[in-house]
Amino acid sequence: MTTPTSLSLKKIYSGKVRDLYEIDAKRMLMVASDRLSAFDVILDEPIPEKGKILTAISNFWFDKLAGLVPNHFTGDKVEDVVSAEELPLVEGRAVVVKRLKPVAVEAIVRGYIVGSGWKEYQKSGTVCGISLPAGLKEAAKLPQPIFTPSTKAAVGDHDENISFEQCEAIIGKELAAKVRDTSIALYSAAVEYAATRGIIIADTKFEFGLDEDGTLTLMDEVLTPDSSRFWPAESYVEGKNPPSFDKQFVRDWLESTGWNKQPPAPAVPAEVAQKTADKYREALVKLTG
Ligand SMILES: Nc1ncnc2c1ncn2[C@@H]1O[C@H](COP(=O)(O)OP(=O)(O)OP(=O)(O)O)[C@@H](O)[C@H]1O
Ligand SMILES: [Mg+2]
Repeated sequence: MTTPTSLSLKKIYSGKVRDLYEIDAKRMLMVASDRLSAFDVILDEPIPEKGKILTAISNFWFDKLAGLVPNHFTGDKVEDVVSAEELPLVEGRAVVVKRLKPVAVEAIVRGYIVGSGWKEYQKSGTVCGISLPAGLKEAAKLPQPIFTPSTKAAVGDHDENISFEQCEAIIGKELAAKVRDTSIALYSAAVEYAATRGIIIADTKFEFGLDEDGTLTLMDEVLTPDSSRFWPAESYVEGKNPPSFDKQFVRDWLESTGWNKQPPAPAVPAEVAQKTADKYREALVKLTG
């Protein structure tokens, strides 16, 4: 079962990966499907068990980081809000969450210079407008983690990197500072733990919402292979983009087909889907033991 096609609860949002169902005015059921989006296009073939793996990894981090910031969990169990009949459809891939008012930026933290950050640095010596020391190599560790927010694009659009000033203009100065400081604190705590499991977290994206009282609350997914770059510490070398426990495997396969990155994506062979699932599972096992 990849994603339930119908639950008695009313579906209120279908994202690239997750579906949201209304429980009542204050609560939602968030269900992670096995869909994978690469280059912002949803693949037609599900990645077996991906939604369950993402949910397990996120739940692990929400718990571990609970002391740093309130999160979106209500404390209710899925079986409290889904009938016994429907439970098997969502078991392991659903959580009961507070309906928050999303903070309209994606809170990205980078501890290493790679991907779009590396591309920008080569051109201008900056990442998202932040000046960095000269002479950094690809995948180098930054002197300290940096906050590089992006816009939250609507389905079908690409998120766009913005400066901290633009972030302040979108969500307000005070909230921007709070989101930045909280994101860096979360990233730093996660990095420290991951190091004990032989994993480098190169970068990650957090999402926040505000509760009824305006309290900043961590939501969505946390430190999964979909939202982060995880590198095995043992194969890390500066100057090379290391192999990762994330979508890179399926991205590389997609690029090898010569696809122009416009929907639809090429059909993913079963063995590529399975190998991708294996990478996600490896991240879960390595992180949580
Ligand atoms: N507690 C919450 N309250 C309100 N919205 C939430 C909460 N938790 C997650 N969301 C939102 O639910 C949606 C989850 O869907 P999904 O992860 O598939 O993302 P998406 O919107 O397609 O795009 P992206 O993956 O780029 O964020 C996101 O829009 C996320 O911001
Ligand atoms: Mg998302």
